[in-house]
Amino acid sequence: GKVRAPTHIISTISDDRGEEPCYAGVPMSSIIEQGLGVGDVISLLWFKRSLPHYCTKFIEICIMLCADHGPCVSGAHNTIVTARAGKDLVSCLVSGLLTIGPRFGGAIDDAARYFKDAYDRGLTPYEFVESMKKKGIRVPGIGHRIKRGDNRDKRVELLQLFARTNFPSVKYMEYAVQVETYTLSKANNLVLNVDGAIGSLFLDLLAGSGMFTKPEIDEIVGIGYLNGLFVLARSIGLIGHTFDQKRLKQPLYRHPWEDVLYTK
Ligand code: ACO
Ligand code: LMR
Repeated sequence: GKVRAPTHIISTISDDRGEEPCYAGVPMSSIIEQGLGVGDVISLLWFKRSLPHYCTKFIEICIMLCADHGPCVSGAHNTIVTARAGKDLVSCLVSGLLTIGPRFGGAIDDAARYFKDAYDRGLTPYEFVESMKKKGIRVPGIGHRIKRGDNRDKRVELLQLFARTNFPSVKYMEYAVQVETYTLSKANNLVLNVDGAIGSLFLDLLAGSGMFTKPEIDEIVGIGYLNGLFVLARSIGLIGHTFDQKRLKQPLYRHPWEDVLYTK
């Protein structure tokens, strides 16, 4: 019989050996003929299945809403400084991407983990928030440097509107909103932020679409797929900031002395 030579790599998401590349078994020509979009490509390459249109539209809305948030945020700032140091596009991009993490843009997975655990265990928002406080952990998905209870994040409102209109259930998002109501009673900056909105709504997408088994949902949340949405989205803006600085021929950046507290 045939003897299968051992391989060094296993891959399950795409195949380029035939006449045309296939994403999760779907030929490129079919993707183009059906007029599918980047949300569909993400669903094939990340989740290995075709998701219903409202899910792929939601993914695309996340990408559009998170593509940029001005020059002052951590990622754009790093990218701008790097571009002004004369570095190449990839260096500018990665220097911005490297700031994405638990405080900035990379709280989506943890928001999904903590909201899911708290909701599934039936914790009230009070019990959840206070238990996090006891553990000394900031609630991921809550808090913002400039957004406030009386100056909400429009991106969060847009995501919520889309989900309330199109998702079969938004139970995790409604739980996150209840958490926000409680945290806002403590301080005005403790709003549900865009990471928390995406994290809770992606739980609703995974649980409500009927496309994922419980173990698959646990695996997606456990591995941490969702920060990938912010990384992908913000790359668009960071690339834009790189081109902007180069177009403007901005000189080497040096931070002003006056803005540093030199002290012993
Ligand atoms: N949960 C509980 N308490 C909080 C939280 C939170 N998420 N955020 C702030 N606080 C409270 C704490 O008491 C904090 O005091 P501490 O430093 O002793 O912990 C106090 O508010 C002071 O916080 P601020 O100075 O107002 O917060 P800051 O502006 O430094 O931080 C930040 C903003 C980083 C977003 C913060 O709220 C946080 O860590 N949130 C959780 C992570 C998160 O969701 N990040 C994503 C933000 S959205 C984005 O980047 C796209
Ligand atoms: C962002 O999308 O970059 C932000 O929400 C962070 C910020 O401080 O604006």
